[in-house]
Amino acid sequence: MRFDILTLFPSLVQPYFEDSILKRAIDAKKITVAVHNIRDYSTERHHKVDDSPYGGGSGMVMACQPLYDAIKAVKKLNTGPVIYLSPVGQRFTQKKALEWAKIGLNTHKNSKKGLILICGRYEGIDQRVIDLLVDEELSIGDFVLTGGELPALTVVDAVARLLPGVLGDDKSAHEESFSEALEGMLEYPHYTKPETFKGKKVPDVLLSGNHALIKKWRMENRRKPKS
Ligand SMILES: C[S@@+](CC[C@H](N)C(=O)[O-])C[C@H]1O[C@@H](n2cnc3c(N)ncnc32)[C@H](O)[C@@H]1O
Repeated sequence: MRFDILTLFPSLVQPYFEDSILKRAIDAKKITVAVHNIRDYSTERHHKVDDSPYGGGSGMVMACQPLYDAIKAVKKLNTGPVIYLSPVGQRFTQKKALEWAKIGLNTHKNSKKGLILICGRYEGIDQRVIDLLVDEELSIGDFVLTGGELPALTVVDAVARLLPGVLGDDKSAHEESFSEALEGMLEYPHYTKPETFKGKKVPDVLLSGNHALIKKWRMENRRKPKS
């Protein structure tokens, strides 16, 4: 599945894909990630990308031209939805991650269909770009970050790990928080060696080798999602 990330700070985004699971997924061609510098599309002499807001007020707004042209160019590489990460958007959830992972599941390996993710900065982006080119606005939570780079990485990570072959063991994403296997609830506690740590023992049932009892204990120890 293809992910295109548009940002003013590619150097904040790129390192995330240079190690661990997502690097392996890229090397194995399970996902493709392209990071685009919005500034490269500015036709202004000094490659300016922002300006002061009409109506006054503090901060700067990302201007139409560079971003509009950047999105138009990237849409030739990726035919999927254009998503603007914004505190104003709908909340990103595991359900949404599953929905978008289906794009990757339902398209062939070299398909141009994936996700285009726009990272805002400053006060955000000119509303006209949203009106003209954005399909969905998405928030990762009720707080304000300095930019959309962490939200974009959050979305790529959450979606990519649901694609076949991205995690070492595909079963890892089968039984986890929010999954159908746990009936939408949060995961049970995990333990590993040693059996006792600072006087705290691993629950006996997990050492019993009785898979039916272990399954029952795990289901009983799922936790309720917070509202
Ligand atoms: C400082 S924020 C802009 C906040 C905006 N003026 C507001 O009051 O809603 C700059 C950029 O960070 C990103 N951002 C900040 N918080 C976010 C969140 N909770 N979810 C998604 N993106 C966020 C967006 O791309 C936004 O354009």
